[in-house]
Amino acid sequence: MDKRVIVVGGANGVGAACVRSLTGAGASVFSLDMAEEPGRRVAEQAGAGFLPCDVTSREQVFSAVDSAASEMGGLDALVHVAGILVQGPAEELTDEVWSRAMDINARGPMLTNQAAFPHLKKGDRSCILNFASSAALTAYPGGAAYSASKGAVTAWTRTIAVEWARFGIRANVIHPSAATSMVEQHRNKMSDEEKAAYAELMRQKVPLGGEFGDPDRDIAPVITFLVSDGARFMTGQNIPINGGYYI
Ligand SMILES: NC(=O)c1ccc[n+]([C@@H]2O[C@H](COP(=O)([O-])OP(=O)(O)OC[C@H]3O[C@@H](n4cnc5c(N)ncnc54)[C@H](O)[C@@H]3O)[C@@H](O)[C@H]2O)c1
Repeated sequence: MDKRVIVVGGANGVGAACVRSLTGAGASVFSLDMAEEPGRRVAEQAGAGFLPCDVTSREQVFSAVDSAASEMGGLDALVHVAGILVQGPAEELTDEVWSRAMDINARGPMLTNQAAFPHLKKGDRSCILNFASSAALTAYPGGAAYSASKGAVTAWTRTIAVEWARFGIRANVIHPSAATSMVEQHRNKMSDEEKAAYAELMRQKVPLGGEFGDPDRDIAPVITFLVSDGARFMTGQNIPINGGYYI
């Protein structure tokens, strides 16, 4: 694939799988993440470049995106995977937790998308993929701040899909379900009974396999397709990759 791609959040989980899938398909890839050690390791193993970057810093984001685009001789796609899960009952939510979720999950994509924009608009078939969650589309009891932050990035992406279409930039939102450390940390906070109930819920709710997907086999190949020109007529869409969860 003749594409130059930045993956934001490429150190772990789904982002790391995207780095591997895209380089495997022949794309030039730069991974950006605040987690330096795993970020460099994953990138090195996949033959990608790496730059440390905290998505909440406008300065770091613009500097890293400009450097990566310059190293690759341009930019065709930005895949913003980075995000955090925050939880807690809605009535107990603090300003601090709300702001942290919004900062990383909503302001982060806004900054990386803005930083990529001048590079992407130089091409005629560019794209942005932002990561949200089924929590943006359905109720997520116990995760109101997370849900609101993912709703924000979903609405932002829908709007830039229209605003930036005239610059040849497509923009879509991914709603994944994948077994990663984010999910593992969530499960680790549960009691044995809660874990069993959660596993049963997944068995009932996910027609394909009854559990979370595999980042490399189930999620990343779809991302590689969406970056490719095969998806050139797709924009502004919510794209769940979740085995049929919440159909
Ligand atoms: N795994 C799932 O089932 C699932 C479900 C719904 C949505 N999502 C979303 O998909 C995306 C990927 O999830 P994952 O499970 O691979 O998560 P993960 O925790 O495995 O990886 C997230 C990555 O984002 C990076 N990151 C976090 N904050 C950052 C910051 N401020 N600056 C730069 N990098 C930062 C982390 O270092 C990490 O490498 C996230 O946006 C998540 O909210 C995942």
